[in-house]
Amino acid sequence: MLSIKRRIHLLVIIIISFTIIGMFSFHFFDYWNVIVENEYKKTKSIAILLDTQLEGTYEDLLADTSTLNKREKVRLLNKKLQPVINNVTKSFPEYGSGYYSKKLQSIVAFGPNFEAGELLDIQANSPARIVYKTKKSYQFKAYSQTRNSQVVGIYHPVIRHGEVIGVTWANIALTDVFELFWVQVKKRLILVIFILLIAYFGTIYITRQYEKGLSIFRNRVHKLDISEEEKRVFSPELMAVYNEVVKAKEMVVDNERKYQRDITEKILRAQEQERKRLSRELHDGVGQLLYSILVTLKLVENAKKECRIEEQINVIEGLTNSSIEEIKRIALHLRPSSLDDLGLISSIRSLVERYENTFQIKVDFKIVNFSRRLEPELETTLYRICQEGLTNIAKYAETNKAFITIELAKDEIQLEIADRGKGFNTIEAASGENNGLGLYGMKERTKLFNGIFRVRSKPGEGTAISVRIPI
Ligand SMILES: Nc1ncnc2c1ncn2[C@@H]1O[C@H](COP(=O)(O)OP(=O)(O)OP(=O)(O)O)[C@@H](O)[C@H]1O
Ligand SMILES: [Mg+2]
Repeated sequence: MLSIKRRIHLLVIIIISFTIIGMFSFHFFDYWNVIVENEYKKTKSIAILLDTQLEGTYEDLLADTSTLNKREKVRLLNKKLQPVINNVTKSFPEYGSGYYSKKLQSIVAFGPNFEAGELLDIQANSPARIVYKTKKSYQFKAYSQTRNSQVVGIYHPVIRHGEVIGVTWANIALTDVFELFWVQVKKRLILVIFILLIAYFGTIYITRQYEKGLSIFRNRVHKLDISEEEKRVFSPELMAVYNEVVKAKEMVVDNERKYQRDITEKILRAQEQERKRLSRELHDGVGQLLYSILVTLKLVENAKKECRIEEQINVIEGLTNSSIEEIKRIALHLRPSSLDDLGLISSIRSLVERYENTFQIKVDFKIVNFSRRLEPELETTLYRICQEGLTNIAKYAETNKAFITIELAKDEIQLEIADRGKGFNTIEAASGENNGLGLYGMKERTKLFNGIFRVRSKPGEGTAISVRIPI
């Protein structure tokens, strides 16, 4: 797709070409006709001029020399008329002119190259005959032997006592007409080319200005900052674009805010749930145990009298041990200390062991090429993802087998947690309003490490969660 600038330039070039072609084919064609028409008029005035100059010199000269033969008569007339013809020729050197005598049926004088005594009879098809008949001027365009070229000219009747006694004529060679035409064309052509050049460079100048304006506008849009004054300078179309951009930007900011709000809300909700769970566990687990210890201590107090202290102390020991176990269990769930001491693989292994015992789900745990420690936050992330993945399988998959594969490839860690259980519709789950936090949390944790998180699942075909984190 061409840029607007290129398109305007192309358009101008096309317009210029068509204008020049149009000028030639219409205007100049007309112009040629006008020039030819002018030449007819001019030759007519020359013919008339010749007529008046010859006044009183021709046919009547022959009146008393009627004994001469035709050739002698023509020669005599030639001699008499030639000075007049020469006079006219001197004033109009490009034009040919002359006189046909009707009586002698011959040209009796013409310029500029005439040899006295030549006998030039009127041809049978000469238009002079039409003039004799119509007594009117006759325009012609024909080949002239005497001028050896195409000529345009006129025959003009010479009338004495109401009778046509001959014709004067004048003509001009077409090559000369063409020269006249070309001089005029050149004058106009230079003007036309000059105007078109101005149009072309004007267009280039305007498109440059436009581009400059556009680049300033682009800058302003980039910064989203157009002053009131500039608003008047930029065209309404650009301002419309600008307003759209501002609107879009506001929308993005709005969405961002909404997104942030959403996340905060989810985090707060998760925190709240975790606190609830902790409080429940403390209340139901440790709280109950400690309460039992307290009750048992009361019993010890009473037992002092009955001497059953040893028995009660055993009970307190048992309860205290249970409390310690319970607190350990809670602490482990919050953050296994083994993660810091023994590393990720061992921690997952003990998670798997506890999981298998609790849920009666067998876990196929595969470790490929995993021999080094990772940074603590990354280890925690992978551990949490395993934890959540396994919990989801226990909650939803309705299966008795799970798979975990963890691999340290050349430049990334790949973790997959899969089952062949119930599966679910990932699209529906993603668009559902009451989504849990598990999958979302896994994804967010992965994103923090610039990793890729993917869930593949279909109803009836199991679920696979894959995490790839570059290192
Ligand atoms: N392994 C799985 N098998 C079948 N369905 C699953 C599996 N894992 C997740 N799901 C489906 O995806 C949904 C979203 O899971 P997610 O872990 O995000 O939320 P949750 O487990 O319902 O809540 P939370 O994890 O916040 O306690 C679940 O409600 C469940 O329908
Ligand atoms: Mg979950």
